[in-house]
Amino acid sequence: MAEATPLYDTYARAPLRFERGEGVWLIAEDGTRYLDFAAGVAVNSLGHAHPHLVSALKNQADKVWHLSNLYEVPGQETLGARMTEATFADKVFFTNSGAEALECAIKTARRYHFAKGHPEKFHIITFEGAFHGRTLATIAAGGQAKYLEGFGPKAPGFYQVPFADIAALKEAITEETAAILIEPIQGEGGIRVASKEFLQELRALCDEYGLLLIFDEVQCGIGRTGKLFAYEATGIAPDIMAVAKGIGGGFPLGACLATQEAAAGMVAGTHGSTYGGNPLAMAVGNAVLDVVLEEGFLEHVRDIALVFRQGLASLKDRFPDVIEEVRGEGLMLGIKAKVPSADLLKAIRAERLLAVPAGENVIRLLPPLITSAAEAREGLARIERAAEQLTSVKQKASA
Ligand SMILES: Cc1ncc(COP(=O)(O)O)c(C=O)c1O
Repeated sequence: MAEATPLYDTYARAPLRFERGEGVWLIAEDGTRYLDFAAGVAVNSLGHAHPHLVSALKNQADKVWHLSNLYEVPGQETLGARMTEATFADKVFFTNSGAEALECAIKTARRYHFAKGHPEKFHIITFEGAFHGRTLATIAAGGQAKYLEGFGPKAPGFYQVPFADIAALKEAITEETAAILIEPIQGEGGIRVASKEFLQELRALCDEYGLLLIFDEVQCGIGRTGKLFAYEATGIAPDIMAVAKGIGGGFPLGACLATQEAAAGMVAGTHGSTYGGNPLAMAVGNAVLDVVLEEGFLEHVRDIALVFRQGLASLKDRFPDVIEEVRGEGLMLGIKAKVPSADLLKAIRAERLLAVPAGENVIRLLPPLITSAAEAREGLARIERAAEQLTSVKQKASA
């Protein structure tokens, strides 16, 4: 019988207890060192205990922790200006999580049409396999039965079409459609990359029908693909974008970015958050950007991504009965397994490497963006040993 716990039983946690982190390493209570390519599900963008982040947080902690949004928060002005300067956006709303960034994105899109005299335009089209969070609106947007079941009627106004199916999408657009919402790279869905052409078609459709294009870059943003944001590789831009995870480097922080036009309906009183954009979060967010925007940093991400791509391609060739396909962009990588992905994840963990499960029998590698070439090779060597183990088990089974 499972041990009684005061915690909700919502998580199937691995029996690991970590005490501290150093760069790409997590150190368990018993001193065992794990190579952390889970990075708190793409959150620890700069690894653990990054000195610049630690000092930014400590410095702010000595000044003021929390103010609420009753007053001006200079850190918000700074981070907001840096994020709008670096992106398509003109306006930013700070949140504490990805789901809240999505909630703000959805509300922004609906208010845009409302303010233009079209309150009937509140429908959002999303894609199968999507994951946008666990609030009532974001489980409706994600559309996955396993997350919706038992929580009452699905929040109205969310319609889903198959991934990358432009014909189905056109069919789904009605007079009530407000926006199209997509992750440029589905994370939890199994590292499914939306092609540049598909995203360009979405932009064209939105322009044609007067819809807003919303990108969910909660997982793929902040340098993960080797660009600051994944959309930069497409030659087009969204109207609204949800960001979180990597921007806080481990401190709870999210943001909803929008063009001036898209955000026009979000006037005083239409949205709010007690904690969103608090001084501690702003200090860390600004410190993350100091590093990620440093010259050469994104180039480093692209170089390390190449080490992974080449290494994983060779592992796929050598272990075709374990690895079916390697997917992803930059340091957002997926290994589609031939064996049950839970077995691969377990074998990798036995080699003291941490990764994340995903849909479509895929395991995600989301290494910190500061991973060195030597650490990438060390991780690949651990995956190789895990694959060897699984191959020999498979061979024995079929002998
Ligand atoms: C693409 C995407 N959107 C939204 C979310 C929700 O973020 P949070 O868990 O911070 O609410 C996640 C979390 O995994 C995500 O990967």
